[in-house]
Amino acid sequence: MSRTIIAVTALVLAVTVALPALGESQSSSADPVTPKLTDKLRGLLQAEMQQIDQAMRDIYTAIISGDHETVADRARAVHESFILKQSLTPADRKDLVQAVPKDFLARDKAFHATALKLAEAGERRETRAELRHFERMTRQCTGCHARYVSDRFPGVGQPAN
Ligand code: HEC
Repeated sequence: MSRTIIAVTALVLAVTVALPALGESQSSSADPVTPKLTDKLRGLLQAEMQQIDQAMRDIYTAIISGDHETVADRARAVHESFILKQSLTPADRKDLVQAVPKDFLARDKAFHATALKLAEAGERRETRAELRHFERMTRQCTGCHARYVSDRFPGVGQPAN
């Protein structure tokens, strides 16, 4: 093989290896999902987000005042809110699964699982565990927003996890 062919091969290899990584880092902060949703789904998602936001505020006040019942009750409401479980016809569900990446659904699932852990911590009346799961949920909010809501929330930085 001539030197030129070796050099060209090396260059092609380098670009092939580097490009997917580049694509990933770009899409990690700018891949908005909402333009891909139907109006109905978007409306449901926004309503769910507003409820979750209010629940998180109530939970914050409940944690700092030792009101474990409210922590448990509101966290369970978040756990069950899951738009994908409620108000969705099979056709909506299909639209949603087609519109959003698997990673989005996985994040939503993980988030709702953390809400259940927070509810259980409230039932055990364990303030430290409540704080831990509350913080984890806050990271999950910002993580999903940084990744998928960059059009509306461009200021949210990608959290560590
Ligand atoms: C799996 C992804 C995901 C997670 C997790 C998530 N969100 Fe969102 N959130 C979204 C998307 C997508 C939108 C944009 C909805 C739109 O504009 O259509 C949004 C929008 C919002 C909005 C604006 C709603 C409005 O009025 O239009 C609020 C408030 C919000 N989220 C709160 C939260 C809070 C609080 C948490 C965590 C406790 C959270 N979100 C977790 C995906 C997520």
